[in-house]
Amino acid sequence: LVAGNWKMHGSHSANAELLSGILAARPFACDVAVCVPFPYLSEAAVALAGSDVRWGAQDCSAHDKGAYTGEVSAAMLAEFGCRYVIVGHSERRAMHGETDQLVADKAKAVLARGLTPIVCVGETLGQREQGTAQATVKRQLSAVIHALGHCVGEMVVAYEPVWAIGTGVTATPEQAQEMHALIRAQLQAATAHADAMQILYGGSMKPDNAASLLAQQDIDGGLIGGAALKAADFVGICRAT
Ligand code: PGA
Repeated sequence: LVAGNWKMHGSHSANAELLSGILAARPFACDVAVCVPFPYLSEAAVALAGSDVRWGAQDCSAHDKGAYTGEVSAAMLAEFGCRYVIVGHSERRAMHGETDQLVADKAKAVLARGLTPIVCVGETLGQREQGTAQATVKRQLSAVIHALGHCVGEMVVAYEPVWAIGTGVTATPEQAQEMHALIRAQLQAATAHADAMQILYGGSMKPDNAASLLAQQDIDGGLIGGAALKAADFVGICRAT
């Protein structure tokens, strides 16, 4: 799975150009998705309907409905044909104070509406330097595994080392594979479906470094930020699979 995380980028004209560029490059040998800002979901749905390119959102509420001003529920996202919802992105954990428990609750809310959560985990540079990277990721993942119970196998996990996001510094394929193998082992302890689950790498993945990352045994795709905003780059990564 190669999923674009557009973050807070886009406009009607830029979206039309990007989506038509992606559609023109089909077929792909992998699952492809774009996670767009909420206001652009309907135009993504119109542009991508009938194609095998999927769409989704970048966050949602842990609640189904109610007095939560500014929030968007998984039920609403389902009405727009979303397949995926990113939850627990490090930018939301850092800037919006999202806790492991809240991220787990969001993942559960997404699954409850029949959508697939892309659950982001990953350590900061400080945590890596202190030697707590593995413990951090394990803790983040444990909260979600606990909340999802027998549905664990239905989520997508994205390992995104915070120090690699938007920095141009990518984890080496070996560093990424080491963490992905630990994530796989943790999933294996929780579900019989772990081997079939998609574990994505995210953090400065580009067309020129994608192949070496994706060649690793436990890297099953990418969550792409900056390089998802240009059709040629995004398509380049899809082709690298
Ligand atoms: P990046 O972002 O590809 O720009 O590093 C990835 C992400 O934040 O999902």
